[in-house]
Amino acid sequence: MAATPHNGAGRGDDRPVLTDRQGHPVYDNQNQRTVGARGPATLENYHFLEKISHFDRERVPERVVHARGITAFGYFEATGLLGDEPISRYTRAKLFATPGKRTDVAVRFSTVIGGRDSSEAARDPRGFAVKFYTEDGNWDLVGNNLGVFFIRDAIKFPDVIHALKPDPVTFRQEPARIFDFMSQTPESMHMLVNLFSPRGIPSDYRHMQGFGVNTYKWVNERGETHLVKYHWLPEQNVRSMTAADAAKVQAGDLGHATRDLQEAIERGDHPQWRLVVQIMSDEEHPELDFDPLDDTKTWPEEQFPPRLVGRMVLNSNVSNFFTDNELIAFGTGVLVDGLDFSDDKMLVGRTFSYSDTQRYRVGPNYLQLPVNRAKNADVRTNQRDGFMAYDQGNAEESPHVNYEPSILGGPREAPAPGHDEQGPVINARLTRKRLPRTNDYKQAGQRYLLMEPWERDDLVFNFTDALRQCPRPIQERMVWHFLMVENDLGLRVGEGIGLSPEDVAHLEPLPGQILDDEELDRLANLG
Ligand code: HEM
Repeated sequence: MAATPHNGAGRGDDRPVLTDRQGHPVYDNQNQRTVGARGPATLENYHFLEKISHFDRERVPERVVHARGITAFGYFEATGLLGDEPISRYTRAKLFATPGKRTDVAVRFSTVIGGRDSSEAARDPRGFAVKFYTEDGNWDLVGNNLGVFFIRDAIKFPDVIHALKPDPVTFRQEPARIFDFMSQTPESMHMLVNLFSPRGIPSDYRHMQGFGVNTYKWVNERGETHLVKYHWLPEQNVRSMTAADAAKVQAGDLGHATRDLQEAIERGDHPQWRLVVQIMSDEEHPELDFDPLDDTKTWPEEQFPPRLVGRMVLNSNVSNFFTDNELIAFGTGVLVDGLDFSDDKMLVGRTFSYSDTQRYRVGPNYLQLPVNRAKNADVRTNQRDGFMAYDQGNAEESPHVNYEPSILGGPREAPAPGHDEQGPVINARLTRKRLPRTNDYKQAGQRYLLMEPWERDDLVFNFTDALRQCPRPIQERMVWHFLMVENDLGLRVGEGIGLSPEDVAHLEPLPGQILDDEELDRLANLG
């Protein structure tokens, strides 16, 4: 290849030489090869074509949700206890077993709806995803900051996200679309009461809680199972913003929460969270007025006290945003021995969705990437090849045998755990039915009553502001739901959009809406 000498050559610069990806030195990185100084370009110019075509492929698709986020690294330290009991009574997961045991973690905080460069001061749930690199392989706990969710069945997820995302014609987020959907989804009320309160805009990522939200199981050495919910409590406390605070913040910086986290870690002010869990026996619990597998509900703390199991410290920032943040892949299916799924209908749907989207978004070999590899466990699979396969599983130890079982070599199955699971026996017809105990309003009302007066004012203001942008039938439906949540909330939002108490009293439930006895009683007493 003819070389045009670089006119900066010979400056006495001893830095290493720039090459292309084939290792060829690049002599001119400023001018492409042309016929004459003004002339047409040549197509055989390998360095130029490589450079441009690689640039053309720089982006992987952003996450379909949670596109904007930031990763940090640190460790989890176990207490070895569940409150004051040995934790081994409940789970045999090794990462929890020994007091003081440390496990490396990666945490990605995120917003949900906006694109990769959107504002971090948006009213939006925040993602709180933790990857534990344990000796038994990775465990991902993929949660949010609000403790509940909009829906309880995964089949509705594409709809709730479409309603919350920008309008497909105008590309504007539209309250009319959001509340059109929510007004026909009564189970969303608990989440909405949180999201439209100040908690819906955390002041940054360090000052927010995290929740696993879905119900999981713990399994002990004897195979006995318990239902479990996980909560992260920040040592930095919880701080939130009103819409007015947030408007000021985002006018100056769309990425203030990323900046806050990175600067705190850089100056050695390492953020910490305590991990507490709530557990209950692995049953249907007919005595409760909600189903333990319903992710629109929290478990009352008086009955199921949160118990400490460890703490997490974040002490290092990403070394590269793309490799550590864009390529990191979390999923609810990523569990270790001693932790298990429950039958929560959201959890099963999520578990399919995460690895499915990651095979598309990052590629089928996304688990070979350094940030996703189970770096503290032995990984030995017979999986081979595929796009961008670099690691060939156990090929070095066993070059010929890439199947199992074999007497010629290759890895063998692990010995089975001593006991099978002892969870409940399920015997029922295949069906499509909602959970029987919906109770969509009670906890939302309790949450409202627990708020301080300024938080209630902010909630009413935010709902009123959003509903003013909605057509009348949607406004009326939402006010009816708010009335069911708590009379005061319904009357105040109703007043905010111009409905008198008499108008509010004459609103009707959704056609076909099924109400339980308690809700019918409440309705009878509303007028
Ligand atoms: C990200 C699906 C519910 C928390 C994602 C992604 C998908 C998804 C496809 C993008 C993943 C990627 O590209 O790597 C679903 C489905 C759900 C659901 C189908 C319901 C059926 C939830 C719930 C929570 C949650 C209830 C909170 C408890 C997160 C978080 C991320 C995420 C934190 C970002 C992970 C990261 O930082 O990379 N979800 N999700 N999701 N989801 Fe969900």
